[in-house]
Amino acid sequence: MYLLLSFISLLGLGLAAVRNQAPAGALVVGARGQYKTIQAAVNAINPSSTASHTIFIESGTYNEQVIIPALSGKLTVLGQTSDTTSYHSNSVTIRHSLALQQTSDDEHTATLRTRAVGSAFYNLNIVNGYGPGGQALAVSAFATEQGFYGCGFYGWQDTLMAETGNQIYARCYIEGAIDFIFGQYARAWFDSCDIRVKAANAAITANGRDSASNPSYYVINRASVAAASGSSAVANETYLGRPWGDYARVVYQYCDLSDIINSAGWRVWQPKDTRTKDVFFGEYDNSGVGSEGQRAHFVQKLGGPQSISGILGGNYANWVDTSYL
Ligand SMILES: *[C@@H]1O[C@H](CO)[C@@H](O)[C@H](O)[C@H]1NC(C)=O
Repeated sequence: MYLLLSFISLLGLGLAAVRNQAPAGALVVGARGQYKTIQAAVNAINPSSTASHTIFIESGTYNEQVIIPALSGKLTVLGQTSDTTSYHSNSVTIRHSLALQQTSDDEHTATLRTRAVGSAFYNLNIVNGYGPGGQALAVSAFATEQGFYGCGFYGWQDTLMAETGNQIYARCYIEGAIDFIFGQYARAWFDSCDIRVKAANAAITANGRDSASNPSYYVINRASVAAASGSSAVANETYLGRPWGDYARVVYQYCDLSDIINSAGWRVWQPKDTRTKDVFFGEYDNSGVGSEGQRAHFVQKLGGPQSISGILGGNYANWVDTSYL
């Protein structure tokens, strides 16, 4: 069995790889585990310990908010799954339904809040079930060198907050209805994600870069962008982004854009508060009906792609799980 599993992992991501057992030394969450909640396992880690820790979560739905503080050691969180290579077979769901109306800060609504530098999350579905009517985050990522692999982010408004440092989201599912990839300072690389839109008039990204010296930069590489199943998104009514910050910086490249994307591609923040003078909204080599038509005057057709090392730094392979790229 062990030989078989290592043989499969040698073959890489071309073949579904099962993860149904905790690695040795992991903190185990679930009916058969030491911990019944994910938060209990997080709380068992001494934040000043420089040792690496792994949390393994057994299949199931966990109705809780998970708050991961700054940690001195590396944290890896693994969801049980029959296929580690994507989100499609995820069997661990973390669900909570807090909205801004019920608290003081949108970040505080996130179902998973993390400030742990160097943390990596695999095969977790992270849901904010609040629905329409207010900011209600699935994840708030407030540290550098954070990676999300084969995760699903489910929400409506402000689903995914990429706020601080260098971050990667690979082979993930990201859904929402408005501003659902957002944040102020992070440089984030989204690789081979499925972005799904829940309602008409959506802006997918709302990057909050607020000055020329703010490092924030989102690159959406090889994504598929389309309506969520059962959604009310309609043809030509979705936008790739709008500028939360005056210096918003977002690129879509090598993406498949369905007909839900408006010919203008991107939109102003508000009609009377456009914020478009200093934005950098770029596109390179996208395909699909949504990549066609007359783009807004503040959009740039780029001459080449952005590189992951340009966005995350030349040492990105030290912390990014490159088997997901
Ligand atoms: C999409 O809508 C815009 C107005 O927002 C319009 O100018 C354009 O022709 C439409 N494109 C398609 C393909 O219907």
